[in-house]
Parts: sequence; structure tokens; C-alpha cells
Amino acid sequence: MTKYIVHGGKPLFGEVEISGAKNAAVAIIPAAILVDGVCRIENIPQISDVTAILKILEQLGASIRSINRHTVEIDSRHIHTTRTSYELSRKLRASYYLIGALLGRFGRAEVAMPGGCNFGGVRPIDQHVKGFSALGAGVTTEGGYINAIVESGRLTGANIYLDVVSVGATMNIMMAAALAQGDTVIENCAKEPHIVDLANFLNSMGADIRGAGTDTIKIRGVERLSGGSYAIIPDQIEAGTYMVAAAVAATGGQILVKNIIPKHMDCITAKLQECGVEVEEQDDTLLVRRTARLKKANVKTLPYPGFPTDMQPQMTTVLTLAQGTSLVTEGVWSSRYRYVDELKRMGARIQVDDKTAVVEGVEKLTGAPIQAYDLRAGAALVIAALAAEGESEISNVQYIERGYEDIIGKLRALGADIRAVEEPDEDVLSTAQIS
Ligand code: EPU
Repeated sequence: MTKYIVHGGKPLFGEVEISGAKNAAVAIIPAAILVDGVCRIENIPQISDVTAILKILEQLGASIRSINRHTVEIDSRHIHTTRTSYELSRKLRASYYLIGALLGRFGRAEVAMPGGCNFGGVRPIDQHVKGFSALGAGVTTEGGYINAIVESGRLTGANIYLDVVSVGATMNIMMAAALAQGDTVIENCAKEPHIVDLANFLNSMGADIRGAGTDTIKIRGVERLSGGSYAIIPDQIEAGTYMVAAAVAATGGQILVKNIIPKHMDCITAKLQECGVEVEEQDDTLLVRRTARLKKANVKTLPYPGFPTDMQPQMTTVLTLAQGTSLVTEGVWSSRYRYVDELKRMGARIQVDDKTAVVEGVEKLTGAPIQAYDLRAGAALVIAALAAEGESEISNVQYIERGYEDIIGKLRALGADIRAVEEPDEDVLSTAQIS
């Protein structure tokens, strides 16, 4: 088991290069299944969710050629099965994109029920199923697998109105409809930057998709997608996480966050500025520093262009150190506050009532043994540990490594005192001791 040991209280100073967007990569890689040719994908983040999804494609029969650390070529011409490995695909949430991609290309898909981060609430996929059914597929669940099949072998375009704004359903239906017969209109779509990125990827391979980034997406089904080359956008949430790190670290430092799209950062920049953090934008960089005590702010998470739910735990960490009482409201997920008890171990004062957290700012946090329960909560705990006085030991860091490329290396380059240590699994040890 890997743990992170952090000695907090140091200013962070320097530059950090943002990697490609996780939530774009985990959709665009499965979307390569739709391509009857070779596609080169650049700016892929080196994270464990990407490794897992690439392995699944390989197991389906796609050839994966690694060109360099961030570029792969995927050849999906020789896929020989539409059934994914149970062990691999149940590990990550994004495996649901394999349904849209396999169904779109081959008219059938058998994919293990998706897993992923557990932040304490339900994560339904009824809107995905509604979309596939409208396109003519029969969808059933059996033995832990979701089976989708269209008898004629090809989906048919349809009008689909999403009952909830869902990133995953918008992207999955877009993938399935790209090769359908006729036109599809999806209404009440999510508008996140990675939705536009997926549409751009598919269009660059020959699809005909308009309106991504608005409420209504129109897809004219094409006969075939052929190969091409595409670079994934920078990760909005990774960038936001480093901005927050600059905001909570000891004063005297500053971080230049590089390789970002400033427009995608507006909602996060505005909220940090409200808290008194200085953010200067220049081309594809943001310079972030704090010179005075943080100020309280109220935050409500919403679909894009609202404040992202994937920044909620990190932003709450900022507010634990702000002067005054702040309110955080989770507006996307039914619950996402499992990390609050861990912050409390460090001296934070937070009360959670259903979807709202009341955060009473404290002067300082102190290091403690803490545990990550999911990816973004884990990132928030790393940030809290960097701000805290003394030593913190963070366990369950495999969640963090699902979505943050080389977080240790990037933070150390900024002057953080953080290191990863390998420790024997306690359960294994205690069993060994008993026997
Ligand atoms: N929802 C439904 N039915 C559905 C789908 C979603 O009711 O069929 C509900 C959900 O329960 C939730 C809301 O709709 O209340 C939004 O869910 P959405 O479908 O947008 O989430 P997702 O596609 O499963 C992606 C990201 C999450 C991120 C959300 C919201 C991936 C792999 N995951 O999940 O990212 O929180 O969008 O922006 O893209 C993360 O990166 O840490 C992460 C959890």
C-alpha cells in the first residue's frame, strides 16, 4: 500500500504544467473503437484510469502503440469481441463509454457494470440506457453485465431529451449516434469542455456533430469514421487543484499554472478571487498567489459553466482557512462529503446537513493521519496537508493516482515536502501475525 507523507506549512513557488484532461481522455480513448482505422491521440494524461481503459481496448482486440509518454496510436480495425473483461471494466466509472462505442460500431456491447469513485451516493446510468433504447437498442442487465444489442446491427437516429443534465449520458449517446442511420438530436445536454472535446475528436475522424457545448447537440450519422490525429484539452480540474494549492499554502509563494484554457477556468478563478486570492491570466497560463488571509465565500456546484462538483472538496479546504463562515452546496451529486470527517481530524470546523456544508474558518490546520475516499477528496486532503502545520500521513492514495499525473513530482517541483512511501498492507500483516 502506498501512503503519502506530507510536512505542511511551506510556501509553494514555481511552475506546474497541466496534463491532458482525465474526463476527456477516458471518453476519447473508448471512442477510438468507433474508428475504422488508426487514430493518434496526443496529450493523454499518465494516470491509472487511462492505463485501465487502454488495457480494456487491448483485450477487445485493438492494437495500442505507445509513441511517447503522452501519445498513443489506437488501431480498432481488428476488434474481435464486444464483451469486456469483468475485472478491468468494473474498476472504473468511465467503462460505461464502452457501451456507446461498441454499440455504435458493432451493434452490440456487453460491459461489466461500471465502478469508480465511491463518494457516498448512487450513481445511476438510466439516462444512458434511455438514449440507447431510443436509438433502437435493447438493454438488459445480467450477471453483473450490461448487455446492449440492436437486432439490425445498426442504430437509428432519434430525438432524445435528457431528464437530468448528465455528462456521461451526453457523451455516450453522442458516441452511439455518430454511426447511426439518420439524425439524432439530444436536448438538455451537459456543456462541459470535455463534451466539446469528444465532439471535436469524433468530427476530426469524420463524424458530423454540431452544437456540442450548448443545450442541444445534433448528430448526422455517418457510414464510417476513418483515422486521424487529435490532441486532448488540458485538465480543468487538475489546473483548479493547483490553483487551490497556491491559495492555501503559506504566504510568500506563487504558482504559475501552465498549459490551460483560461476560459475553462473562469468559474474557479472567480471564486478564488472572491476569497481574496490573486489570479493573473496570460495566454495559456494563470499566476496564482495569496498575500492576505482568505475571505469566506458561498459555493454551489452546478453543471458547466457553474462551479464544478469535482472542485468541491478542494474549495471546501480553502474555506476551512477563510475568515468567517462559508456555505458549500452540492448541486450535482446527492452526496459528496465523506472527506469532511478527515478535514475535521486536522482541526477544520464543518457541519454537513444533507447537501450543504457550513464551514467555519479556522486560523490553521494541523497534520494528522487521514484517508482518501475518492479522487477529488484525496486531492483536497493533499492540499489540506500542505497547508497544515506538522506531518500528515495520507492513505488510500490509489484514488488520487486515478486522476492526477505525477502529483508527487509536480508538488515537489513547487517546493512541497511530500513523498510516497510503500507500506505493507495492514490486513495482510495482521492475518500473518494471527496465524
Ligand atoms: N444522473 C442520473 N442518471 C444518469 C446519469 C446521471 O440521474 O443516467 C445524475 C447523477 O446521479 C448526478 C448527475 O446526474 O446527480 C450528474 O451526473 P453525470 O452523469 O454528469 O456524471 P458522470 O458522467 O457519471 C462525470 C465525471 C465525474 C463528474 C461528473 C459531473 C467522468 C468519468 N466522471 O461523471 O467526475 O463528477 O461528470 O461533472 O467523466 C471525477 O473526475 O472525480 C468525477 C467523479
